[in-house]
Amino acid sequence: MSDSATLHYQGKDLVFPVITGTENESAMDISLLRKSTGLVTMDYGYQNTGSTRSKITFVDGANGILRYRGYNIEDLAANAMFPETAWLLIYGELPSADQLQKFRQMLTENALIHENLLNFFREMPPSAHPMGILSSIVNALGLFTPRFYDDENKAEAFNFTVANLISKVRTVAAFSYKASIGEPFVYPDAEKSYCANFLNMMFSSKAKPYNVDPLMVQALNTLLIVHADHEQNCSTSTVRMVGSSQASLYASVCAGICALWGPLHGGANQAALETLMQVQQSGMSVKTVMERAKDKNDPFKLSGFGHRVYKSYDPRAKVLKGLVHTFFNKGSLNDPLMEIASELEEAALKDDYFIERKLYPNVDFYSGILYHAMGIPTNMLTVMFAIGRLPGWIAHWKEMHDDPESKINRPRQIYTGHTERPWIKLADRV
Ligand code: SDX
Repeated sequence: MSDSATLHYQGKDLVFPVITGTENESAMDISLLRKSTGLVTMDYGYQNTGSTRSKITFVDGANGILRYRGYNIEDLAANAMFPETAWLLIYGELPSADQLQKFRQMLTENALIHENLLNFFREMPPSAHPMGILSSIVNALGLFTPRFYDDENKAEAFNFTVANLISKVRTVAAFSYKASIGEPFVYPDAEKSYCANFLNMMFSSKAKPYNVDPLMVQALNTLLIVHADHEQNCSTSTVRMVGSSQASLYASVCAGICALWGPLHGGANQAALETLMQVQQSGMSVKTVMERAKDKNDPFKLSGFGHRVYKSYDPRAKVLKGLVHTFFNKGSLNDPLMEIASELEEAALKDDYFIERKLYPNVDFYSGILYHAMGIPTNMLTVMFAIGRLPGWIAHWKEMHDDPESKINRPRQIYTGHTERPWIKLADRV
C-alpha cells in the first residue's frame, strides 16, 4: 500500500500521507487539506471518513469479522462473562482473577440507586419509553454520586464511575419495567451474578416465586457481550463527540443512549421484533413484507437487515441465531416468531434486491426473539442494547481522553443558504 496520496488541484500536486493500521486498513490523512488548499471534504453520514485511530475493536465488514482488543467475538461469546468483556474493552486486557473479583465486588457494591430517584420512576407516565427514562436517570446518577466531578484523583474517580454506571444501568432498567407494570421494585441481590441479578430484579416479585433459569443467564450474558462494542457506530461516535468537549462521562453516555434509540440504529431491534409480531398477528405474508421492504414509496424497512459496514453476514447475528436454535432445541423457545424470522431471512437471502445491496441479517434481527423468549418487553429491547453497549461507550470515551492528539470535535460545512441581503422592516414584509 502506498504511503502517500496525491491530489491534483488548481494546477498543483498536493501530497498527503497515507496511514495504515495493524489490520492493513489505510486512510489518507487530510489534517493539512484546508491549510494547503482551502478545501474541506464533504462526506454525508461520514461513510468514508475516519474520525480517529483506535485500538479497541476491529470490524471487517467484507469478511464478517468482529474482534474486541484482538479477541474474536465468537471466542468471547463462547467463553467470557460480560463483566470480563467490559474490563477487556475499557482497560485493554483480559482481567486477572484478582482484578475480575475486585471489579465484580465494585459492581455489587454500586448496584443500588439513591432512594430519591425512586420518585422519578413514580412520577413518570407508565407508558414512558424506558430509553427516555434510562437517558434521564443516567445523567442524574452523576448528581447523586458526584465522585466523577469532585474527586481529585481522576483515575480513581473514573474507575469508580465505570462500576457505578455498568452496575446501576441494570437497576434503572429493571426499576423502569417494574414501575411500568405497577409492581414494587425488586432490589439488587448481592449474592447474584451480573446477569442473574438483572433477571431477578426484572421478574421476581413477592407475589410469585421466580427461579433464575441458568439458560436465560447464559443467553443474556451472550447477548450483552455481542452488543458491547462496534467501533465508530452512531452512538459511540456521539459519546466521543460529546466527550470531546470535556463533558462528563455521565453526560456523554446519556447522549449515546439517545443516539442509540433511533430505529436506524439500536432501535432496530424493537422495530425488527415488531415486524415479526405484525406478520404473526396480521397474517401478512413473508412475500408482502419483502415487497414492502423493496418498495421505495413505502417507508417500511426490514429492520434487522442491512448494515453500513457489514456487507456480509453480521458475525453477531450468526452467534445469536445459534443461540436461538440452542434455546429451541432445549425446548426453552417454542416461539412462532422464530419460524417467521427464519422464513424472512431465507426469502431475503435469495432475493436479488437484498443480494445486490448486500443486505444481510444484523445483530438486531435475532436479538429480539431471544429477549422476547426471556420475557423482556418489546419496548425494552433497545435498553438491553444500551446495557450491552455501555462498556464500549466508556472504552471509547477513555481512549479519546487518553489520546494526546484528541481535540474538540468540530466538523466543517459548505454553506448553501442566502448570500448577504439587507434587513426588511416588519411593516415592509409581505
Ligand atoms: C446497528 O454502525 C454500526 O455498527 C451499528 C450497529 C452497532 O453495533 O452499533 O451494528 C448496530 O445499528 C445495526 C443496524 C440496525 N438498523 C437496521 O436494521 C435498520 C434497517 N437497516 C437500514 O436502515 C440500513 O441498512 C442501515 C441504516 C443499517 C444502513 O444504512 P446505509 O449504510 O446508510 O445504507 P442505505 O440506507 O443507503 O441502504 C443502501 C440501499 C438502499 O437502497 P437503494 O437506495 O440503493 O435502492 O439498501 C436499501 C436502501 O433502501 N436498504 C434496505 C434496508 N437497508 C438498506 N432496504 C430494505 N430494508 C432494509 N433493512
